[in-house]
Amino acid sequence: MATVLRCMECGAEYPLAGTRYRCDCGGLMDVVHELASLAVSRELFDGRMWERGPEPWRRSGVWRFRELVLPVEESSLVSRPEGNTPLYRGPALSRVVGLEEFAVKHEGENPTGSFKDRGMTVGVTWARAIDAKAVACASTGNTAASMSAYAALAGLMAIVFVPEGKVAAGKLAQALAYGALTLEVAGDFDAAMALVQESCRELGIYLLNSLNPFRIEGQKTIVFEILQDLGWEPPDWIVFPAGNLGNTAAFGKALWELRELGLISRLPRLAAVQAAGASPFYRSFLKGFSPLEPVRAETVATAIRIGNPVSFPRAVRSLRWTEGLVVEVTDQEIMDVKAQVDAAGIGCEPASAAAVAGTRKLVSQGIIRRGERAVAVLTGNLLKDPEATLAYHIGKLRGIEPRFANRPRRIEASLAAVAEVLEEVVR
Ligand SMILES: Cc1ncc(COP(=O)(O)O)c(C=O)c1O
Ligand SMILES: [Zn+2]
Repeated sequence: MATVLRCMECGAEYPLAGTRYRCDCGGLMDVVHELASLAVSRELFDGRMWERGPEPWRRSGVWRFRELVLPVEESSLVSRPEGNTPLYRGPALSRVVGLEEFAVKHEGENPTGSFKDRGMTVGVTWARAIDAKAVACASTGNTAASMSAYAALAGLMAIVFVPEGKVAAGKLAQALAYGALTLEVAGDFDAAMALVQESCRELGIYLLNSLNPFRIEGQKTIVFEILQDLGWEPPDWIVFPAGNLGNTAAFGKALWELRELGLISRLPRLAAVQAAGASPFYRSFLKGFSPLEPVRAETVATAIRIGNPVSFPRAVRSLRWTEGLVVEVTDQEIMDVKAQVDAAGIGCEPASAAAVAGTRKLVSQGIIRRGERAVAVLTGNLLKDPEATLAYHIGKLRGIEPRFANRPRRIEASLAAVAEVLEEVVR
């Protein structure tokens, strides 16, 4: 068996070639690697960390794990390079969550400022391999930004479908700047998602949402890298924000594969964090993973403002594999925790702060126990959503009381005015 596509519902297998992202039965597809035949080891992946060379992919934290991602010619890879993101820790972060052994994996430090680049290098490489002419996605912003950049790099036309008026400024600016045809859909993300699927089917455009199994293969490397960062000693928990559930799907598959390969012997537990106004996965979890009931989503964390997540079945599988769970946090908790992560000098966008707020909630509930080790994934950069950050600090974010506000102060252009403010602040 070579690498194939396999339906997660009925098990039907299809060759890797072509543009299939769903089974004939409607099920979601997995890229399945023949793990037993792969000559991979911790040493192989560790050795490649220091690889250097003129080609960008040699410095990619995705293609370092290429045997577990996608078997294609190295010369065909479309890479910025992505990955190799930092793992930050320290007393300020530990204090936020109340856990000594706490670190954040900063995926906002990828080339376009979010984790999406890890899936997109794979998706766009594949799009070019199958000779696609145009690629499309529905997006709350980051997928659009990432796909636009990688498509431009590969010489492909990019078409992005975004919910009108609900995309953070940094992300919309990126899509426009990278030259994508940008369609502001009158409706929410879920409406844009339905429309892009129909458009791709009818108009012969290649779909690059995380429904696409090749995207998931790239996103697995977030987990591979976390394990590598920790010397292959698994943490007790990996905590991350959950919207369309692509990462939830990818992280479970990554861990399952690492254990099959014998690269780790114990699985961390996955904790998916949803915003309280956009929590269909949490509601299903509370009822033992009952069938998904879509909701009308609303949250300040626009990246996860998703009411009908596409990867739901794969995400349930991931949590079953890892004794995982789902938790929800309010917008108030998200923004207060974001202010603290920002003030630690790290910085992230609101959806990413949900991961830290979720960690904190699980610690306070005693579910993550003191003495355990947790890694939270910061999915997007602080600069993605300047409006939310500014509105918080000047007290203009509707429904949010900014407990950690750092207001700018207007002063006269005089030394006396500076001295007066300093005296007040230092006092
Ligand atoms: C910053 C950020 N965090 C989290 C998510 C949610 O990820 P997923 O759809 O994989 O659940 C997104 C998706 O757009 C995002 O942009
Ligand atoms: Zn099937």
